[in-house]
Amino acid sequence: MKTQDIFALATKMGIDADLRGRQAVEKMLKRKKELYDKMTPAQKKEFDTEALTNPYIDGRVHYVSKKNPDVKKVLAGIDMEGDEVLLADRLGDIDLIMAHHPRGKALADLHDVMHLQAEVIAGYGVPINVAEALTFERIDEVARGVHPINHTRPMDIARILDISYINTHTQTDNLVATFLKNLITKKKPEYVSEILDLLKAIPEYAEAIKQGAGPRLFTGKPGNRAGKIAVTEITGGTEGSTQIYEKMAAAGVGTIIAMHQSEEHKKQAAAAHINIVIAGHMSSDSLGMNLLLDELEKKGIVIIPCSGLIRVSRNKNTARRKPAKKSSKR
Ligand SMILES: [Fe+2]
Ligand SMILES: [Fe+2]
Repeated sequence: MKTQDIFALATKMGIDADLRGRQAVEKMLKRKKELYDKMTPAQKKEFDTEALTNPYIDGRVHYVSKKNPDVKKVLAGIDMEGDEVLLADRLGDIDLIMAHHPRGKALADLHDVMHLQAEVIAGYGVPINVAEALTFERIDEVARGVHPINHTRPMDIARILDISYINTHTQTDNLVATFLKNLITKKKPEYVSEILDLLKAIPEYAEAIKQGAGPRLFTGKPGNRAGKIAVTEITGGTEGSTQIYEKMAAAGVGTIIAMHQSEEHKKQAAAAHINIVIAGHMSSDSLGMNLLLDELEKKGIVIIPCSGLIRVSRNKNTARRKPAKKSSKR
C-alpha cells in the first residue's frame, strides 16, 4: 500500500462509520461540489479542492516522500510533533508517520468537521435548527482559535527529512464513536455504573486506568439511571456549544459519553441534570486509531506505536499464530 492508499482506506472506513450514515455524507459532498461549480474563478482559486472528495478535512495527506515507497513500517501516534518526526528519521526504516490529531492545514480546518455534530445531536431529538445555530456559533469560535497557531512545524520537518506524513482525525474518531454506540445498543446499560463497567472492559480503557486516565464520571452518580444514552462528544472535531445540554435534556437525553470535557461544559451539563461519562482522551483516540491500524496490520504493515497511542491489536488470528511459531522452535 502506498501512503495515498492508506489515507483513502481511512476515509472510506470513516465514512462507513459516520454516525449520520454514508448517504448523508455523500449528499454533503455533492452539495459542496454544486457550490464549487457556481464559484467565480477567484473563489475557486482559494477553495480547498480536497474538500470535494474528503468529508473530513481535519485529516489529510500532508507530505508524500519523493520515493513514495510501498509502506512496510508506520510510526503511529496521537500527536506527531517535530520530536516524533525526528524519531522516525532516527529509526531509519519508517515509511510513513501517522498522527491522529491534526496539524498543518488539517488543524486550520478543524472547525469544518463540526457540522457533523449538529446532525448527530439532531439524531437524538434536538431540532436541527437549534443544533445548527448553537454549533455554528462554536464553529466560528474554533476557527478563530486555531487561526494564529504555528501549525505546520512537524510537516515542515517531515518534508526536509523526506518522510511521508498523514493524519487521520475525524476518520478514526468516527470509528470509536460507532464502536461505542454499537456497544451501548447491544448491552443496553440501565445504570451509569454499568456504562463505566462496559468501558473499563475495553483493553484501551483498562490500560488507561493503569496510566491514571481511565473512564470516570464528571457529573451524576454511578447509581443514577442512564436514561437515553448519547454518543455526541466523541467525534466531530472538538468540543461543541456549552448551551447544548439543556436542549439535549429537553430532547430526552439522560447521559452523554464524551472523550473529554472542559469545566464550563461540565458545569452546564450538571445544570441540565445530564450524566457525563468521560471515556478518556488518549484511550478513546487510541481505540479509533487501532481499528484502522488493524486493517494495515492485516496487510502485513508493521505498526510502531508512540506519542500516547495505546496500541491494542484486534487481529486475534495473527496474535495467536505468533506464539505458535515460537513454541515450534522450542
Ligand atoms: Fe480524536
Ligand atoms: Fe483527541
